[in-house]
Amino acid sequence: MTGRPTALVTGGSRGIGFAIARRLAEAGHDLIVCARRAETMADAERSLSATGVWVHAVQADLAVEEDVRRLIQVCQDRCDRLDVLVLGAGIGAAGPVEELPLRRFDKLFAVNVRAPYALVQALLPLLRKGAAENPRHGAKIVALASITGVYPEPGLAAYGASKAALGALCRSVNAEASAAGVSATVISPGYVDTDMTQGVHDEVEPAAMISTADVAELAMSVTRLSVNAVVPEIVVTRPGGQLHRA
Ligand SMILES: NC(=O)c1ccc[n+]([C@@H]2O[C@H](COP(=O)([O-])OP(=O)(O)OC[C@H]3O[C@@H](n4cnc5c(N)ncnc54)[C@H](OP(=O)(O)O)[C@@H]3O)[C@@H](O)[C@H]2O)c1
Repeated sequence: MTGRPTALVTGGSRGIGFAIARRLAEAGHDLIVCARRAETMADAERSLSATGVWVHAVQADLAVEEDVRRLIQVCQDRCDRLDVLVLGAGIGAAGPVEELPLRRFDKLFAVNVRAPYALVQALLPLLRKGAAENPRHGAKIVALASITGVYPEPGLAAYGASKAALGALCRSVNAEASAAGVSATVISPGYVDTDMTQGVHDEVEPAAMISTADVAELAMSVTRLSVNAVVPEIVVTRPGGQLHRA
């Protein structure tokens, strides 16, 4: 490693994760990014490396236990410390409670909850080291949840439940680790204009959605907070009368 602050961004190849990874790189963080698809990862790695920081891309499917273990091993082998952990990789699934098959529920929880839990569990020692070496700011976990984990949305019960669980994980991490300088923030936005929301364009135009830049700005502001300011959750709504809708 180079002595610069270091961040792991899961889902850093596209969408919100990539936007945050780019801001972190521009702010001088060395990066490990992960995603499933090699081609988009390679594009992201090239683009992030162009900022001059060290970037290592790991092809990993966070639904697969072995891949999660391999990602953890890469972080442990390559990093002396971790300053920022962005839990960005996530999947969606829509369907009423009575219809969404349990196998899709299990996949949602594997990617959106189990993998983040495994990463936090294994990487807390590196985050504690990061916090000890940067006592002013500490180390930060930023998790991408969803407004559907805060307010109910028909058809998104399983997705919302997975994101609510991610929020609960972050709040518990704060209770356990924030005194040692490691704090967690869950960002819970409504619809953000990414590949994930292409299927709802007939309902909400991309131009009316939250931008990836907005979410990245919030994530960066969290990284700049002092160790004394713990922000458990940021809810981001779209404008209008139905503030609680995605
Ligand atoms: N877009 C929204 O409206 C919205 C709103 C609220 C919250 N969120 C949350 O924000 C996060 C990012 O969403 P996004 O809209 O940026 O999604 P996106 O455009 O679909 O990007 C998802 C990223 O995660 C990676 N990924 C997906 N499944 C993975 C897996 N099993 N293992 C490893 N990497 C995986 C993707 O790369 P590969 O496909 O190559 O794996 C990609 O880099 C998600 O957690 C999502 O639930 C999104």
